[in-house]
Amino acid sequence: MHESRVVIFDTTLRDGEQAPGFSLRTDEKLLMARRLDDLGVDVIEAGFPIASADDADAVRLVATTVRRPVVAALARACAVDIERAAWALAPAARARIHTFIATSDLHLSRKLHITRDECLEAAIAAVRLARSHTDDVQFSAEDATRSDVDFLCRVVEAVITEGCTTVNLPDTVGYSTPDELFEFFTAIRGRVPNADRAVFSTHCHDDLGMATANTLAAVRAGAGQVEVAINGIGERAGNASCEEVVMAMRVRRDLLRCETGIRTEALFATSRTLAELTGQDVQANKAIVGRNAFAHEAGIHQDGVLKDRRTYEIMRPQDVGVPATTLVLGKHSGRHAVKQRCEDLGHLLDRLEVDRVYRAMIVRADAQKTITDEDLQQMVQSVRASAQADVATPAAGLAAAGVPVPVARPKATVGVRPR
Ligand code: KIV
Ligand code: ZN
Repeated sequence: MHESRVVIFDTTLRDGEQAPGFSLRTDEKLLMARRLDDLGVDVIEAGFPIASADDADAVRLVATTVRRPVVAALARACAVDIERAAWALAPAARARIHTFIATSDLHLSRKLHITRDECLEAAIAAVRLARSHTDDVQFSAEDATRSDVDFLCRVVEAVITEGCTTVNLPDTVGYSTPDELFEFFTAIRGRVPNADRAVFSTHCHDDLGMATANTLAAVRAGAGQVEVAINGIGERAGNASCEEVVMAMRVRRDLLRCETGIRTEALFATSRTLAELTGQDVQANKAIVGRNAFAHEAGIHQDGVLKDRRTYEIMRPQDVGVPATTLVLGKHSGRHAVKQRCEDLGHLLDRLEVDRVYRAMIVRADAQKTITDEDLQQMVQSVRASAQADVATPAAGLAAAGVPVPVARPKATVGVRPR
């Protein structure tokens, strides 16, 4: 089975960091860059040096310190940006200048006020200048998916002729659907005569919630690089999420037939680092790294996972660095989960005790949403205390355990698993 190696281009520190609420100080950017290096990304886009002196300094610091991955810097298709990016990247072991210009008529006429021919000339000149600084040059056709395909093909052919090594075709406003993006990449790669001389890259925004699906569709159409961000951060609704794209490729390797250099066990820690640095947590139900991604509360699900985790889990929590599957106790939980959680906490309960703790838990869960380990410990203790009281004075003490119905006499002793 032929499998292609997809390049992971991480834009957390550029597209991600430029989104409201996600800005990072220079030292924080460096820490995050080290994490991305440890994760195994191939390219770190460290910033947009012309945007500010701090951004330029941060790129330079990352370029100086992080030696394995390629370090990329963004530059508009103009000399001042490219020179600034080249300065910031000068210390890098492997530097990439990433230059871009919009190619859609909407952007050309309404934003840039230039003609298609002027756009083409600017793209060629930008790549030529960037190539005078480094052999690794990426060109992005901003708003590519809403551009005229014939014109886009002309631009792509011209920049490749000029020596551009990676051509990125962004879905800048997250407008495409997966089928469309597949056709789009297939068409451009098929029509540009020198397409085989560059790696094609996809950069999808999540405005319609399709960034991950679109990224995978582009890969199926031959894109060799994916642009992603940790926790999916980025402009507006964000970029395709690194953890989703990478794990989709791993879990559905049978279908997608590609691999990455990512150490997936570091995904969760990388996600946590970003959340802590930015103060922006991911939503509980976020795929892969959300608090609930490996949590089960419904009794049927908990029972299934306890019997064979594959019933409700398509990957193991440890594959992404999540410590363990969580059985969340709440009013939907069943006796199996209560028993298991008690065992995890060191209490081996007999059937009667499980029943009592379970019923106490259900009563408590009506009043509070989830049951913590401390709650459960306390219930176990109460059930045991009431059982001892019961031996001495029948029916005494059950109320203390929160058990609404009197039950049969329990065994006097139970095992406690050594911790
Ligand atoms: O979304 C976009 O088009 C971009 C480019 C600058 C690559 O972020
Ligand atoms: Zn973007």
